[in-house]
Amino acid sequence: MQQIGIGLAGLGTVGGGVFKHLTKNRILLMERLGLELVVRKIAVRDVAKARAVAAPAELMTTSWRDLVEDPGVRIVVELMGGTDAALELVLSAIAKGKIVVTGNKALLAEHGREIFKAAAKYQVPVFFEAAAAGGVPIIKSIREAFIGNHIQSIHGIINGTSNYILTRMTASGMGFEDALAEAQRMGFAEADPALDVNGWDAAHKAIILASLAYGFWVGTDKIYVEGIERITAEDIRFAGELGYCVKLLAIIKADEKGEIEARVHPALIPRSHVLASVNGVFNAIAVRGDVVGDTLFYGCGAGQDPTASAVISDLAEAAAALESPRRGFGFTPHALYGNCKPISSVVSEYYLRIAVVDKPGVLAQVAGILGELNIGISSVIQPEAQEGESVPLVLMIHYATNDQMQTALARIAGLSVVKRPPRMIRVENLA
Ligand code: NAP
Ligand code: HSE
Repeated sequence: MQQIGIGLAGLGTVGGGVFKHLTKNRILLMERLGLELVVRKIAVRDVAKARAVAAPAELMTTSWRDLVEDPGVRIVVELMGGTDAALELVLSAIAKGKIVVTGNKALLAEHGREIFKAAAKYQVPVFFEAAAAGGVPIIKSIREAFIGNHIQSIHGIINGTSNYILTRMTASGMGFEDALAEAQRMGFAEADPALDVNGWDAAHKAIILASLAYGFWVGTDKIYVEGIERITAEDIRFAGELGYCVKLLAIIKADEKGEIEARVHPALIPRSHVLASVNGVFNAIAVRGDVVGDTLFYGCGAGQDPTASAVISDLAEAAAALESPRRGFGFTPHALYGNCKPISSVVSEYYLRIAVVDKPGVLAQVAGILGELNIGISSVIQPEAQEGESVPLVLMIHYATNDQMQTALARIAGLSVVKRPPRMIRVENLA
């Protein structure tokens, strides 16, 4: 049987999973592919390190360049992480005509344009199923299954760590810091969970999904990103009283003029929507296309085995591409879309919590400011709660631009009856 040589850069969580499952399911893959995927070299930082998944010593090297230079390696799998050595490795592998498979969302989000330009120049595909939502096959679905669709919207819960934190805050009423500490104890959050909680891990994945959906590489400066650090158990409770739950949501949409929005931020979503029941570390993505209508994907967005499953699917596709060269190289740019709306002009609904002095006329002052700015209120509640010398006033706001809301917030914050800067969370009704 024909053998295809693979160079594995990284034998950590994901690389270890890939090696383990290529070995375990070798016969199954041979039966299905009609060829054998053989790991010929593995690059790591430290060959002496004790590993849960061990590989034969003769395969190991500390130089990723050995993979690129080895004529027996036809597919390079980049699972090192980071954006420096990883970029060098990917570009040099492409220049050598080796197909690249990567799960590196930060690398693609930051350097996707450059990488796919090189891929097209050298006619070498780059596959990246593991770079968004781990084991959930969302990349192939957008790229292949929905090829005949204009993508109207994508709504995704695509960071497992933040979803775990929000799920625990909702279920137990615990605060953000306690839920984060628990996520770290359970091994879900990274030792440095910054990118998970500040929204950027989800933003990297959203950039990849938006770029695939709309045919131009979305820059990191074109996506609006807000994390979950300022979400309080109190906001989650009030949202619940209004029939909503709070999720870190990636929202990608095109309007009728073909302008797109790409944003990641906490959002109130109706508790009756299927995305509201996506709990813990699970990911889910709802995609609406003009031909297919509504679709939903759900599964494990991270971890050794689910992510290895995605990488192995790319390896199968890479092997097929070696057999019969293809037209596409992983990302096909086109000019049907191209503009991203700035967040200031994005229209949304909002939840507003204002700490006010408990006396008559306060609601009228707040409503007056909103009315002057032509912003409609859809409901008001004054929950039973004391916030020091103030009480919370919670308003649900009809459609307004982010710009209008920022003006309103600044004016409301200036009222003498308002004790702290108002808290605003966007609402996505997912209609
Ligand atoms: P990891 O556990 O830290 O593993 C990284 C591996 O790369 C290690 O084996 C390390 O060697 C090796 N490495 C790092 N820099 C290197 C260099 N300059 N030269 C040679 N080897 C180098 O990371 P991971 O969690 O597997 O993640 C890998 C990639 O997959 C990242 O881009 C990540 O974003 C992405 N990803 C991860 C997950 C997940 O659930 N973990 C899910 C989806 C995507 P040593 O072992 O010697 O240190
Ligand atoms: N830190 C990421 C998450 C890992 O929590 O979803 C997978 O990309």
